Amino acid sequence: MDNCRPLLLKALNKENLSTPPIWFMRQAGRYMPEYRQVRKKFKNFLDMCKNPDVCCELALQPIKAFNLDAAILFSDILTIPDAFGLKVKFEENKGPIFHNPVKSIEDIENLKPFYPKSLAYVYEAVSNIKNSLPNNIPLIGFTGSPWTLAAYSIEGSTSKNFNKTINFIKKHKEASHILLAKFTDACFLYVREQVKSGADVIQIFDSWANILDESNFSSFSLQYLRSLISALKNDIVTKNIPIILFLRSPKCSTSELINTSTDCISLYTAMQNFDIDVASGKVAIQGNLDPKILLESKDVIKKESHKILNKFKDYPGYIFNLGHGITPNINPDKVKFLTDTVREF
Ligand code: CP3
Repeated sequence: MDNCRPLLLKALNKENLSTPPIWFMRQAGRYMPEYRQVRKKFKNFLDMCKNPDVCCELALQPIKAFNLDAAILFSDILTIPDAFGLKVKFEENKGPIFHNPVKSIEDIENLKPFYPKSLAYVYEAVSNIKNSLPNNIPLIGFTGSPWTLAAYSIEGSTSKNFNKTINFIKKHKEASHILLAKFTDACFLYVREQVKSGADVIQIFDSWANILDESNFSSFSLQYLRSLISALKNDIVTKNIPIILFLRSPKCSTSELINTSTDCISLYTAMQNFDIDVASGKVAIQGNLDPKILLESKDVIKKESHKILNKFKDYPGYIFNLGHGITPNINPDKVKFLTDTVREF
């Protein structure tokens, strides 16, 4: 019976496995020709996310191509700000653009309430994907972290250093906390609906943790990650769902991350000095091959993936992944090669 339990769930339960489960952040995306075929039918990326049948097809593409150990919901983290009325559009090669970004205290006070039902298209995608997957492949649902969602909502687009956002939170501290609390509630309700619809695991993306200094990370991000995870761990629907927390180089200690009660920490590429000894037995670890290695020769891919596999060989609960998402310039053959290399190790 136990042999049938998916590898990903065993690893998240901190079991030491002879072969780690493997999946990739952004495993569905522009690097795949079959994705580009579907993508060209939609001008605005978010319109594609609003079509649950298309999301199902896209989430299954990498499973079919590479026989991975987990599927991830096809959607985006910016569905929540869009549902708050900030009007998110993804235009050709520009990344996300907010037509109604948060510009003032009044904008935060006047934000319309979050109705979890307004994201029904996401939950429908979850149940479609779940129903199409074989039983042994778990489905990962996800949300952005309250901080990362707030950063995009204030900046109004993506950015190198998010200067506008950093100035805003300094100038409007109290209002920023109100915004973060609203996003935290929304993330909780959103994840809860994804779990009700069939998500087996939840990943939280704090992709912009790195732009906060130590004290700001603690008050503007970590605090809300802690309340979100605590709400999930105390809710009857979500309490047994393992949580993976991805953060881009946060300025805090390993113990502070463990103390969020997350089940797993997904290491960003640059987090090479993360304290494995402190984490061992407390959280599972996911990651963190540099996605750029996939541009190298097969020999290099093999050498670099073996380095990581050796590092985590005896770690209780290890999931193979990249340190960030697969980029559009990657050849899918290399993804297949990497997957086979990890399985043969
Ligand atoms: O396969 C998967 O991983 C599932 C789907 C997924 C997408 N976005 C699809 C997507 C997931 C989990 C995300 C999360 C996401 N979205 C994050 C967190 C992860 C990270 O990268 O740090 C962030 C920050 C976003 C916001 C976002 N979405 C940006 C900044 C962009 C534009 C940049 C880019 O890569 O194009 C997107 C667009 C996006 N999200 C695409 C995909 C497949 C490409 C859109 C296209 O085809 O035009």
